[in-house]
Amino acid sequence: MSDLISKDKQHVWHPFTQHQTSGDPLGIVRAEGSLLFDADNKSYLDANSSWWVNTHGHGHPHIGKAISDQFKALDHVVFAGVTHPKAVELAERLCKRLPDAFEKVFFSDNGSTAIEVALKMSFQFWHNQGTPKRRVLAMSGAYHGDTFGAMSVGQRDYFNRPFESFFFDADYLDFPTETNHQAILDHAEKLFNTGEFAAFIVEPLIQGASGMRMYEAAFLDRLVSLAKRYDVLVIFDEVMTGFGRTGQLFAMDHCAQKPDIIAFSKGLTAGVLPMGLTVTSTKMFETFLDDSMARGFLHGHSFTGNPMACAAACASLDLFDRPETWKQIEAISEWSTAFASTLKEIDRVIDVQVLGTIVRFEISDLEERTYFATEIRAKAYAFFLANGILIRPLGNVLFVNPPYCFTQAEYAKVSGAIIDFLKTI
Ligand SMILES: Cc1ncc(COP(=O)(O)O)c(C=O)c1O
Repeated sequence: MSDLISKDKQHVWHPFTQHQTSGDPLGIVRAEGSLLFDADNKSYLDANSSWWVNTHGHGHPHIGKAISDQFKALDHVVFAGVTHPKAVELAERLCKRLPDAFEKVFFSDNGSTAIEVALKMSFQFWHNQGTPKRRVLAMSGAYHGDTFGAMSVGQRDYFNRPFESFFFDADYLDFPTETNHQAILDHAEKLFNTGEFAAFIVEPLIQGASGMRMYEAAFLDRLVSLAKRYDVLVIFDEVMTGFGRTGQLFAMDHCAQKPDIIAFSKGLTAGVLPMGLTVTSTKMFETFLDDSMARGFLHGHSFTGNPMACAAACASLDLFDRPETWKQIEAISEWSTAFASTLKEIDRVIDVQVLGTIVRFEISDLEERTYFATEIRAKAYAFFLANGILIRPLGNVLFVNPPYCFTQAEYAKVSGAIIDFLKTI
């Protein structure tokens, strides 16, 4: 065992890990483009973009220069009562990319905090108007993060059972399938009709952690219209779907109906530094204005608006302004679609879906068809590592969502390895 691994085992407690059974972590010492390298210089293709965050590839010189320049100019500063150029630039440039109503940007630190802010804003929006509302509608299978508010509106299962008694109440719609749209709309309408719902929160078009499950934009439009008809605030969790994943800059760009609040993180900074943003309208912002401090949004974190994270996000927007980035996203979308067609022909492969740069499928005939199908997950993870590919399956779900710098040869290596793996089971 290397020194790195033995010291890690002595002192480090890893996320989403059962340390009794997890085995040794993979030691990664450097990265470049699509590749991660261990201490022996063995490379691994980063086929899931390092927990779905990396957009333009590792060590991108334009992002690196922006962070380094920013460090020299201003590394960090309190963000209450203080502002700085990169935060303002980011807020302005992001709002320009969003529909007109989105004019106000609240900074936080990660996806969970961006969601927490969205939920708190929604509750306080109603509170400030003297009509408090306590209930939130979500979708079954949702994952919005691991802070208490985010957990309260996520799928309730063994990930969060010890905390469940502390959660606030949420109601859940079934996940949309080909046959249940009207039943979901009827259910939502019945709930909205109570007048008790502060917000409806949803991962637009793709539920990430529950298995990259996809559903149609047209149906989301119907749900959003319904919520608006009943004056329920709509929150889009674009933490995973934002910044090119779905083939558009935002999943929302596939939809005709727009939300009231959007949460961003992950790809926001090109996946290089932690940051969350919650974006909303001037109309929402104005309900917090008053002579009384108590009516303001009294929320914040020490690293709110970190200048280097803002610089990385602005540099990432520069790259999204370049046509070659979109050519790459289009190319990956085409390879994904072609790979999906191949997968559909393979026995034991079911529920193949593709949207933009993400392709996903499930392996059938397993004892358990869920995230908790740990045996197949472990087997797949080890198989891909041995083949120089880092993929973290979600139970029996395998998916590819690479950084946009992936080459066709790299994509072919990953898709070929997946097909080889399927032959082994
Ligand atoms: C859709 C979605 N929302 C929120 C989160 C939470 O983000 P973070 O892990 O940065 O707290 C995630 C993380 O995977 C996510 O996929």
